Amino acid sequence: MPNPKRNSIMEGAEKGKDKVVVLDFGGQYSHLIVRRCRDLGVYTELISYDIAIEELKRGIEVEEGEGKIKGIILSGSPFSIHDSSSPKCSYEILDLNIPILGICYGAQLIAYVEGGVVGEGRKAEFGRTELLFKDSELFEGISESGISSYRACDVVGQSPTINVWMSHGDVIERLDGADILGYTRNTPVAAFRINDRIYGVQFHPEVHHTEKGAKILWNFLYKICGCERNWTIESFVRDAIGEIKREVGSDGRVVCGLSGGIDSSTTALLVNKAIGDRLTCIFVDNGLLRKGEKEEVLNTFENNFKMKMVFVDAKERFLNELRGVKDAEAKRRMIGEVFINIFEEEAKKLGNVDFLAQGTIYPDRIESARSGSVASRIKSHHNVGALPEKLGLKLIEPIKNLYKDEVREVAKELNMPLQILNQHPFPGPGLAARVIGEVTEDKLRICREASWIVEEELKQSGWYNKVWQAFAVVGDDVATGVLGDARSLGRIVTIRVVESKEAMTADFVKLPYKVLESMSKRITNEVKGVTWVTYAISSKPPSTIEPC
Ligand code: XMP
Repeated sequence: MPNPKRNSIMEGAEKGKDKVVVLDFGGQYSHLIVRRCRDLGVYTELISYDIAIEELKRGIEVEEGEGKIKGIILSGSPFSIHDSSSPKCSYEILDLNIPILGICYGAQLIAYVEGGVVGEGRKAEFGRTELLFKDSELFEGISESGISSYRACDVVGQSPTINVWMSHGDVIERLDGADILGYTRNTPVAAFRINDRIYGVQFHPEVHHTEKGAKILWNFLYKICGCERNWTIESFVRDAIGEIKREVGSDGRVVCGLSGGIDSSTTALLVNKAIGDRLTCIFVDNGLLRKGEKEEVLNTFENNFKMKMVFVDAKERFLNELRGVKDAEAKRRMIGEVFINIFEEEAKKLGNVDFLAQGTIYPDRIESARSGSVASRIKSHHNVGALPEKLGLKLIEPIKNLYKDEVREVAKELNMPLQILNQHPFPGPGLAARVIGEVTEDKLRICREASWIVEEELKQSGWYNKVWQAFAVVGDDVATGVLGDARSLGRIVTIRVVESKEAMTADFVKLPYKVLESMSKRITNEVKGVTWVTYAISSKPPSTIEPC
């Protein structure tokens, strides 16, 4: 269920961009709708379904070019509109003079409010289904035939068709007064239009499996809402740099915690482009970094980009604090606290700093706004939210409205080295998220060395860029091995390789046995103290990607 508190339409470097908003009813594809619209060139935001109608009105009433809302999309939902607890937006939305597209649950909600009949779960459809449709602005350019009308079911075989992706239990059975634009075998009202302004589709145009789904969304954005193409990576970079300059002013100074990950690296580069060496980056070696990471970060930012850096070797301090801590959440909290303390000390030493730049990205904010979600907890460790207040700093978050893939595009535009650009995401608590139980130097060594081998083998076999994350996990379990003639106990290393979209769900990668075999051989041969290697074959959910 979406978070009811997250109601505001956010502002950032995108301030002033006309946009489309997606009302999030909790559907599995809500983020995907936003992504697709942005990919099509229109700035799009996800907002909570119960946003106050006045706030929407304000966004609609402003002048073009001043952040005007040009269209509203209502997302899908795991709920049936007949559930008493199902999310419902203000019905006044339909009276606003603005184009609306309801998708799945969104379409059912429109039909329900407009007095249609939404049948409960009798003829559910999941997966690919053939849609018969007639020409309309929504389906313009999708078929060559140009058939402009049909009577449902009479003209099967004559209407143009496409394959669409369905995922619904309830069905819109009737919607008097609407122009029915499409139907399927089980859904008599699979696409409709009311007053030339309100559209609904039972299927998911945002999902790749829907043929010409992108064209349907394109028609909505450009033909129906009249949007301008205002969202490209080049324009983002230009606007973000301009916005940072404006915010920081001509003599403001900024500090940024650099981890070497793509988010903080991109943030630092953007700020550096805007204000040069009035930015100082603080890079803390917490002893939980990947093999070679420290050297690479220093080389990239200090030598290559010539940025002002403060390097802090805090390995001992972190390891001391982590001694005896076994619980995963306690480890994260501890790492977060120590990081904040170190950062605070270093920032104070710099003196005269006005701003803190942080690499928060869109899913961090949206996910962590959802109370009780896993993501809200996973981000707690590196939440330096308390820092700006403690240090009296103002916060700059230049990529806070970007998805991970968009951050990568921005980084590419800024000439980030491929090594950083293509590296897999790495959690804030570093290897501590992959060492089960107490974090010791020996377990860190095993985790670091084994992970390095996993990555090397993937790179060599051409798999590295095809997977989301790949690493080794180590805990306290030991198993018997034979070394020469002697039996000995050693650690069990688990290899985890997953594919994922934005880390919200994940599946283990079906790697060829040959690749797994060479990983296993190398780990047992090259990493001292390992006797067994296993492969993690659970998906998210129910597992998470990181073990702790
Ligand atoms: P899980 O393990 O929850 O992870 O499936 C989802 C994604 O988030 C990353 N992750 C983290 N990132 N701080 C971070 O910045 C964390 O504490 C943290 N925990 C997990 C993880 O690597 C995966 O990509």
